[in-house]
Amino acid sequence: MSKRIQSIRGMHDVLPPHTAVWHDVESEIQKVLASYGYREIRLPIVEQTALFARSIGEVTDIVEKEMYSFVDRNGDSLTLRPEGTAGCVRAGVEHGLLHNQQQRLWYLGPMFRHERPQKGRYRQFHQIGVEAFGFAGPDIDVELILMSARLWRSLGLGRVRLEINSLGSTEARATYRQRLTTYLSANQGLLDEAERARLHKNPMRILDSKNPNLKTLIDSAPALMDELDEASRTHYDEVKLKLEQAGIAYLENPYLVRGLDYYNRTVFEWISEDLGAQGTICAGGRYDGLVEQLGGRATPAAGFALGLERLISLLTGQGAHFAGDHPHAYLVMVGERAEAVGIKLIEQIRDAHADLRIIANCGGGGFKAQLKRADRSGADAAIILGDEEASSGSVIIKNLRSQQEQRSIAQAQLIPYLNSICSIP
Ligand code: HAM
Repeated sequence: MSKRIQSIRGMHDVLPPHTAVWHDVESEIQKVLASYGYREIRLPIVEQTALFARSIGEVTDIVEKEMYSFVDRNGDSLTLRPEGTAGCVRAGVEHGLLHNQQQRLWYLGPMFRHERPQKGRYRQFHQIGVEAFGFAGPDIDVELILMSARLWRSLGLGRVRLEINSLGSTEARATYRQRLTTYLSANQGLLDEAERARLHKNPMRILDSKNPNLKTLIDSAPALMDELDEASRTHYDEVKLKLEQAGIAYLENPYLVRGLDYYNRTVFEWISEDLGAQGTICAGGRYDGLVEQLGGRATPAAGFALGLERLISLLTGQGAHFAGDHPHAYLVMVGERAEAVGIKLIEQIRDAHADLRIIANCGGGGFKAQLKRADRSGADAAIILGDEEASSGSVIIKNLRSQQEQRSIAQAQLIPYLNSICSIP
């Protein structure tokens, strides 16, 4: 017997009824994004490997060890996208959407990273990402943060905190990196192997380290904040002021450096206490240099992405209510005449009521077997048609979720009845 093929580790199926929860969450988010004037862009899942190496950074975990890269039949090196910003910028440059324009865009879809799977961390996961191009001022940073705060409110999500930081200009960061490398090099003995490897390549990531031996070292490390250039400092102060004016609470985290190289100035993360180690549900910031770096004209930019798996698991954990997608009714048809009348009737109902979810029995079967299927389908009610009802223009209705007696009504009364039991608008 051949061994059954299983899904790939860290890549999950989403099954019904859970898919209905995903739909609900996605459409709620899309409504909020549309209300701020953001429009959808659909991007390929596969891009040239060079795109990610050049944008995310050669010396990042993602590019060094997490990308799903392969050589295709033409000999080109391609990669399953580990995130959406690079592809969005590539598309914007390619289609002339960015130069001298303002764009507010969003995308949704699967991303791929070969990380060690654990709760909240997967190898295929889904992001909704938002990117704004052509805005240099702090107002767009605040708009993005306000929009994300509204997402949590509209989804009913509680217990998330906002952390912010400023990474300053690219030049200021380079100076800071130098200082930090010197400082950390003097204490090399405390670093583990992975951290020593990062020391010259990407020392700022060491500040992110969870290694308890480094706590004191990190606490007294030079702060990036002290190196901020004047323009970045003013920008950051304005972001903070506007957040305060808008009543958005935030925590300044000087060690928030992000795992992707393209950021500058404002960076932020929304973190939940309820998710354990993988608590960041949404993260982003400015990336004013990336468009030019990818061959476009210099264009300021900022954005964020949220992880749908983490968000949905949080929402379900907090007991959020979702509309669901169970059928409102199941049509039981016993007999040839009943089948002929039933199919016509059910199509008329669908004409009249596009929102109604109604399953027509397929595959025949006796009354009992069909009623059992009706019950298993999760439907609120069974509509029962035998040859007798078919001839007399009636149906029997049976509420499957209460002990009420079944009763006979005229076929013409079916729509008002379904409305009454199914809370259809
Ligand atoms: P990121 O921080 O790499 O940023 O990912 C954003 C969010 O995606 C994370 O906060 C998390 O919720 C989710 N996420 C990331 N990796 C995984 C994983 N392995 N499993 C489950 N969820 C995950 C970006 O991707 C940037 N492109 C965000 C951005 C957009 N910055 C500017 N514009």
